[in-house]
Amino acid sequence: MVVACPSLETGYVSCPIQGPTQLPVLHIKPDHLPVISDASLTVHAGEKQNWIPKCSIGTPIINSTARWFENSEEVIAFKEGRKPSFEYARYGNLTTKVLEEKISALERAESTLFVSSGMGAIVAVLLSLVPPGGHIVATKDCYWEARMFIQNKLSQMGVSSTFVDMNDMNLLKEALQKHKVSLFYADSPSNPLLNCLDIKKVSEPCHSHGALVCIDSTLASPINQKPVTLGADLVLHSATKYISGHHDVVGGCVSGSENLISKIHSYHFDLGSPLVPNAAYMIIRGMKTMHLRVEAQNNTALNIAQLLEKHPMVRHVYYPGLPSHPQHDIATSQMSGFGGVVSFEVAGDLHATMKFVDSLKLPYIATSFGGCESLVQQPAVMSFWDYSAAERAKIGIKDNLVRFSFGVEKFEDLAADILQALQNMILCSHTPKLPSCG
Ligand SMILES: Cc1ncc(COP(=O)(O)O)c(C=O)c1O
Repeated sequence: MVVACPSLETGYVSCPIQGPTQLPVLHIKPDHLPVISDASLTVHAGEKQNWIPKCSIGTPIINSTARWFENSEEVIAFKEGRKPSFEYARYGNLTTKVLEEKISALERAESTLFVSSGMGAIVAVLLSLVPPGGHIVATKDCYWEARMFIQNKLSQMGVSSTFVDMNDMNLLKEALQKHKVSLFYADSPSNPLLNCLDIKKVSEPCHSHGALVCIDSTLASPINQKPVTLGADLVLHSATKYISGHHDVVGGCVSGSENLISKIHSYHFDLGSPLVPNAAYMIIRGMKTMHLRVEAQNNTALNIAQLLEKHPMVRHVYYPGLPSHPQHDIATSQMSGFGGVVSFEVAGDLHATMKFVDSLKLPYIATSFGGCESLVQQPAVMSFWDYSAAERAKIGIKDNLVRFSFGVEKFEDLAADILQALQNMILCSHTPKLPSCG
């Protein structure tokens, strides 16, 4: 396999109007690459393209709807693939291409497609790779909106689905035997309960039955986990989270072999939701510090998870970095860090939990995760308020569940804030009284 890495002389891709004839092949150039650590790749991969003037270290934003040609001869050379370029901005953009190469390098994938949101990447994958009449096996706790799309919308297009428990291999094997499965789709870790899937173990039976494996690795980030190296065919991200990292831009990407990405790309010509070049620039800028941010978030989240686990006002902590997590061994074997999201159940009901959340001073009460600012939310209130308590319980969303996304603030400040909010919760009439609270 050709692995994408920072290229000093990458050519453009030819994108004639009828679809991509070819996506870029990026070759490792060892003499140009003294270092290939993730830290160096986040900074350098995809940069120093031959179209970027030497007066600029930052990647320029190419805001143009189309490229122009010197003359008809040049148009013909382009059409025949002799002068590759992006003809029209819906098919691709040079600023975005830098970003795509950066992600390919980090994910150790041949190719990447960047689109305008994570959900856009998910829908592009599902529509392009699962034919009408096809079958999808997905995990029950995949991203909720992806699950709703598979269940309620793809079903209307003649695509059937089976939802399985993440670690019940028997259900997966049964579905593979019973149906002609086109795609196995899962999040690892999952949101918000942080279940982890043994990616290597599920990929083997899927491949032997001709099914592709796609992993939503958003909660891990490309720093902590590389699903393609574990056997997955595709890895996708809501780049809105760790990749952009600043809670200020929406984007999504999918990486895999050139063959698969070019299929998704050509379908995406019709979906028509490219990332705008300004957003690509912001994401590239955000990514320069992704390794530093994620490392800080990993450390803070692990330390807080350990603190919470010992606290008498906390009933349960969900974090793959804790030995008490049911898939801790799987997580340890396939992740280099466990991410910045920690979910936990406090000792109290819906209202006591609201009191805890409202007592926090540092984090914003907001959905999303992965940015510099810590965010907190109570899923029963924020994401699942429209669902009955019984429906929420069925999918494991208890009233007292809190999802904390740690930013890059100092651990001591966050810990002090959480401890004071737990203390404050004790004063709430909905909270069982405990003798002492750390
Ligand atoms: C795990 C996961 N995947 C995909 C998405 C969708 O991404 P976006 O909001 O960028 O469309 C989200 C959004 O929260 C998510 O959490």
